[in-house]
Amino acid sequence: MTPLEVIVTKRDGGSLTAEQIDWFISRYAAGDAVADEQAAALAMAIFFNGMTPDELSRWTSAMIDSGTRLDLSGLDRPAVDKHSTGGVGDKISLILVPLVAACGAAVPQLSGRGLGHTGGTLDKLEAIPGWRAELSPEQMIDQLNTIGGVIAGASADLAPADRKLYALRDITGTIESIPLIASSIMSKKIAEGTGSLVLDVKVGSGAFMASKADAVMLAETMVGLGRDHGVTTSALITGMDDVLGRAAGNALEVAEALEVLAGGGPPDVVELTLALAEEMLRLVGIDADPAAMLGSGEASEVFHRMITAQGGDLSAGLPQASHRRRITATVDGHLQGIEARAVGVAAWRLGAGRTRKTDDVSPTAGVLCLAAIGDRVSAGQPLFELHTEDQARFESAAEALAGAARIGPDPIERPPRVELTVGP
Ligand code: URA
Repeated sequence: MTPLEVIVTKRDGGSLTAEQIDWFISRYAAGDAVADEQAAALAMAIFFNGMTPDELSRWTSAMIDSGTRLDLSGLDRPAVDKHSTGGVGDKISLILVPLVAACGAAVPQLSGRGLGHTGGTLDKLEAIPGWRAELSPEQMIDQLNTIGGVIAGASADLAPADRKLYALRDITGTIESIPLIASSIMSKKIAEGTGSLVLDVKVGSGAFMASKADAVMLAETMVGLGRDHGVTTSALITGMDDVLGRAAGNALEVAEALEVLAGGGPPDVVELTLALAEEMLRLVGIDADPAAMLGSGEASEVFHRMITAQGGDLSAGLPQASHRRRITATVDGHLQGIEARAVGVAAWRLGAGRTRKTDDVSPTAGVLCLAAIGDRVSAGQPLFELHTEDQARFESAAEALAGAARIGPDPIERPPRVELTVGP
């Protein structure tokens, strides 16, 4: 077999055979017979011509088989995880993992770091002094058996073909392809060993998928891949036009998650967390009330145990930025929306995100929204608080936020976050 024959088959609109897919992915992961430019050419051909369900299923299997699949069959509770396609202010995992663990499931969440305007869960937790993302598979299984929840970094052996291909897609304009996104996400989640999975597929201007039709297509594709690989999967389609909650930035989001775990926090964060928790518990047949569990403080206790088990120390509080600046409203009215992408870009410019995978992120940088959608606001009232270690960053962050708060004359109610459920 040659890379050229595989590329030409897809370029000309044909279907790849199982042998072609297995060979191409395994040789690309091994770094011998398939070069980066050939993998990029195939990704572009897939971008334009798509894949049949059979091709996509085999492609996903080949990516899983490029590394090892964790075996969680020895756990004494059912395993269920959540994956979000990424949004601004998305700190849901920090609350959801301990909450669902407190309800009796095992939640093995292998997570990533952020790139661009959406933050990564590991970056957020690393704002907690001492917290370590690295766990061996044995440590992870031990923590799942004793505490029930783990959030940790994925090892280099988890779908390594995806790791390589994702980095290549990032620089060749081939990220925004439904089959490539679906196989990338699902290969990692299936390799993680969970038996059930709930996907939070974001839709809106702050998300990968701007249209609902595309979000539903992505959700259905991933639910199908889960089914093909023995992982019971369903998806919630949730709105990401407006920032989720009030905080974007690493320590700021941990602080907001702690508020929710203590029984408070923004209503939209609570709504989405509970909807995802209910769906996760439904998939594994656990009859528990996550709202009551959140109110009882048990989820908060599990969170603190998870943090301590991974070296984190919250006793001295979270780090705080040395510089803050507020941005005020210029007109009177009602706050109709807070554009997620603008807030994400501002937080990123303040230092919360990275441009290259190797960049460091600031634990303290970010944006706090000081008013909520539906609030009455007056000219001169502070709307955003910018946090950074480097004052020179204020100006470009403020530029990103120009027009981000939509203020209109009419009162509105915040629309529900959850728009639709897909599958299993
Ligand atoms: N997240 C992933 O892991 N892969 C993609 O392709 C897109 C988002």
